Amino acid sequence: RHGLLAYDPGFRSTASTKSAITFVDGDKGMLLYRGYPIEELAERSDFVEVAYLLMNGELPTPAQRAEFDLLIGQHNLLHEQVLSFYRGFRRDAHPMAVMVGVVGALSAFYHDVMDIRNPEDRSRAAVRLIAKMPMLAAASYTYSMGRPVRYPNNRLDYASNFQQMMFGIPSEEYVPDPVVARALDIIFILHADHEQNASTSTVRLAASSGANPFACIAAGIASLWGPAHGGANEAVLKMLTDIGSVDNIPKAIARAKDKNDPFRLMGFGHRIYKNFDPRSRVIQGQARKVLAHLGKKDPLLEIAVRLEEIALQDEYFIERKLYPNVDFYSGILLRAMGFPMNMFTAVFALARTAGWVSHWLELQQESHGIDRPRQLYVGPTLRHYPAERAPR
Ligand code: SDX
Repeated sequence: RHGLLAYDPGFRSTASTKSAITFVDGDKGMLLYRGYPIEELAERSDFVEVAYLLMNGELPTPAQRAEFDLLIGQHNLLHEQVLSFYRGFRRDAHPMAVMVGVVGALSAFYHDVMDIRNPEDRSRAAVRLIAKMPMLAAASYTYSMGRPVRYPNNRLDYASNFQQMMFGIPSEEYVPDPVVARALDIIFILHADHEQNASTSTVRLAASSGANPFACIAAGIASLWGPAHGGANEAVLKMLTDIGSVDNIPKAIARAKDKNDPFRLMGFGHRIYKNFDPRSRVIQGQARKVLAHLGKKDPLLEIAVRLEEIALQDEYFIERKLYPNVDFYSGILLRAMGFPMNMFTAVFALARTAGWVSHWLELQQESHGIDRPRQLYVGPTLRHYPAERAPR
């Protein structure tokens, strides 16, 4: 019934997919930010430096880093009126719902002081978003707990500041644990960008229409929330909890292979990686380190490790090249740090803001006009309204 109308495969999709920011080689399991391997950045850099690198294309000199730190410190507060938006949400609202709403609302606060044709204004908008995300995300958690919002403390580094805004309580001084802070900073580095995934492509499409950068990032947050994308870290923990013990792993593997069962191994598989996701290896190591450092044991870690071992020996996963992705261990690490499950994707969004704003900036430097992906039409061919039908 559905004949193909003229579809010219020669039509180029008018989505500008050219980018110099991140390179992924899925077969080799390689991830480069502006040419630097993710493993080296996770080992030797920090998130603020990586955010600078993604935005500007080069590692900052000491002077550039000092100025960037100063700018982040100057822009990391939320306007008191923005905080009133939180009161419109139910206490049990998912933090991602709050972040979509509040980040989108920032458009109303900066539209009159920002001309996106001006490179200075564009750069300031990008810095504002990176700087404000920690307070914005933490406020969605403290609000849900009925606790007062906490403000940034510029004597702390970026990750420690986020932690104190999340977990600090007014009656006590919060002293960030350096091992946990470093692990959180590494999580931010690993999640900062990943070329043109669903949420980054959402930001790029919105940016191509000339939309306000705050509205573009709000669109990216909405796209990241889905369980097939950034929401997978929360879904992995729910899956591991449901599996409950290593004895139940074979049943879970069987369900994941059963085409009649919608169950998939969350945290496994990737549209590009057909080899190990280099990020999942680093996160597993950090999960072990933080659990040992805190003297905690998480039975889910052993279930996850055993599940990976068994799956990677199973023909179904081998022939489909399905490996653990960035989300497979991140929930275990975040839980060890004290994050509630509904904050996992909010942490992902906080980190990915660095990549999203870098892609937004990159698109502003080109003038390729609005993106308009081509469709493959498979609907009905031309037909006419039936003469016998009485006109409405
Ligand atoms: C992220 O794009 C990015 O870069 C995303 C991200 C980023 O940094 O931005 O890396 C972050 O989103 C990581 C992915 C998180 N999502 C999950 O972990 C959800 C579980 N994974 C699957 O839903 C799936 O693997 C996707 C969505 C990630 C990829 O889906 P694809 O590309 O459709 O998978 P595919 O077509 O390559 O699958 C090939 C086969 C299929 O079976 P057959 O039809 O060939 O028989 O593998 C099967 C799939 O059914 N398959 C799985 C599976 N993933 C794929 N089977 C069981 N469990 C899985 N997890």
